[in-house]
Amino acid sequence: MSRISLVILISGGGSNLQAIIDAISNNELNADIKAVISNQANATGLERAHRANIKTCVIDHKRFPDRESFDRSMIDIIDPLKPDLVVLAGFMRILSDYFIDCYHQRLVNIHPSLLPKYKGLNTHQQAIDNHDSIHGASVHFVDHELDSGAIIVQAETPVLTSDDAATLASRVLKEEHKIYPMAIKMLNEGRLTFENNRLMLDNHLLSKPLLWKNGQLS
Ligand code: GRF
Repeated sequence: MSRISLVILISGGGSNLQAIIDAISNNELNADIKAVISNQANATGLERAHRANIKTCVIDHKRFPDRESFDRSMIDIIDPLKPDLVVLAGFMRILSDYFIDCYHQRLVNIHPSLLPKYKGLNTHQQAIDNHDSIHGASVHFVDHELDSGAIIVQAETPVLTSDDAATLASRVLKEEHKIYPMAIKMLNEGRLTFENNRLMLDNHLLSKPLLWKNGQLS
């Protein structure tokens, strides 16, 4: 079976990176992480990569005059590695159109909300403030709008009356750790394809995102 090659971009804790590393070591996901790139030198995710013997690279965005020159320096690292997929895992920079075009249909993100709800930051607090009963996370291909693009899979979790943003975030994060490796696996197995802005699953048009709920995919 084919082995998908990944470059993973992080800015912080890297728990989603860890979920992907774990899925590979448990033989649940046949993937090769070619490199982890962080824009933050102190990102905990870098230690996770080191422990797994994955090559890392820090590119401090503050050293660059504008967004695109920072992105071009990432491309200089990414392109020679020829990844099948560039995976944003808590990467807290808005990407330039140039970067997004460069990895057209090969760039995925995880966002902690049920998109299209709550793009941007503070998603958990917004779900609480709006008295949502359900919140969650989305894995999606990246397009030019912030936190938008074809959604592959979403995970739902209930919002409890006792929740604050931190407790809700940690419950959502646990689900993120399930759906990100799952989405990459489906791409690797060729079950899921994305061409001409159409997501296909098992040769059928995926008209709505897959849903991960109560430990089951539907
Ligand atoms: C996750 O909630 C992810 O959805 C968002 O940033 C957070 C990153 O967490 N984009 P981690 O760095 O993977 O632990």
